[in-house]
Amino acid sequence: MYTKIFRAVIIGAPGSGKGTISTLICKNHGCVHISTGDILRQNIMKNTDLGKKAKQYIAEGQLVPDSIVTKTTLARITEVGNRSYILDGFPRNIAQAEALAAREQIDAVITLDIPHDVIIDRVRNRWIHAPSGRVYNIGFQDPKVPGRDDVTGEPLTQREDDKPEVVAKRLQLYDELMNPVIDWYEKKGLVATFKGKQTKEIWPRMELYLNDRINA
Ligand code: AP5
Ligand code: MG
Repeated sequence: MYTKIFRAVIIGAPGSGKGTISTLICKNHGCVHISTGDILRQNIMKNTDLGKKAKQYIAEGQLVPDSIVTKTTLARITEVGNRSYILDGFPRNIAQAEALAAREQIDAVITLDIPHDVIIDRVRNRWIHAPSGRVYNIGFQDPKVPGRDDVTGEPLTQREDDKPEVVAKRLQLYDELMNPVIDWYEKKGLVATFKGKQTKEIWPRMELYLNDRINA
């Protein structure tokens, strides 16, 4: 468990494992995982106003407009209140980073640096339980019953934006928009980069880093 409130941002290309690693961190350290992608997908599923607005952008691999995502994310942070969190999927550009900085004191920015060929392979095998955001991967993190969520037994689906042509577009957009955001956080001395192909390589290093930061 965290001994003090810890507010972290996790940054990585689509399919780099942000959701997977954030879940592990929160399981081991008792923080709240805030994933903007999961929030948007849940809204699309429930056909809310937000979901209706976001749907087309996501299916095409575009970013959802800042005004919508920033408002939604800051509202979620308010709900989380005085607890540690990992912010996954936000900020996605400098405007969002500035909006976050105006509101929150971020303690650390964790970046995942995973080769693109590894990512493309992973995304092809990704299955999700859309209502909860739980992620599976055939051959890495298989569901107990093929095609079914471990917790609810409901069917798993593949994401609209995991089609190969959409993934290629998301990867390109990531490089374009996120390198400046990483530089922006670098200047503030907040960035820790974890490079590797597998979670089992990255995780022990991340644990050392987290224990260091949290107990510092
Ligand atoms: P979002 O859901 O955030 O998508 P993303 O950033 O593209 O990231 P992913 O969720 O695809 O990947 P991940 O890094 O979480 O990887 P995962 O753990 O699943 O956003 C979706 C869309 O929403 C955006 O394109 C945009 O339109 C919109 N949006 C969201 N936030 C926004 C914002 N702030 N502003 C504007 N628009 C926004 O892992 C990937 C796969 O690999 C899984 O199958 C997993 O099981 C597997 N895996 C993980 N680790 C390993 C391993 N070590 N070995 C094998 N497989 C592994
Ligand atoms: Mg994710």
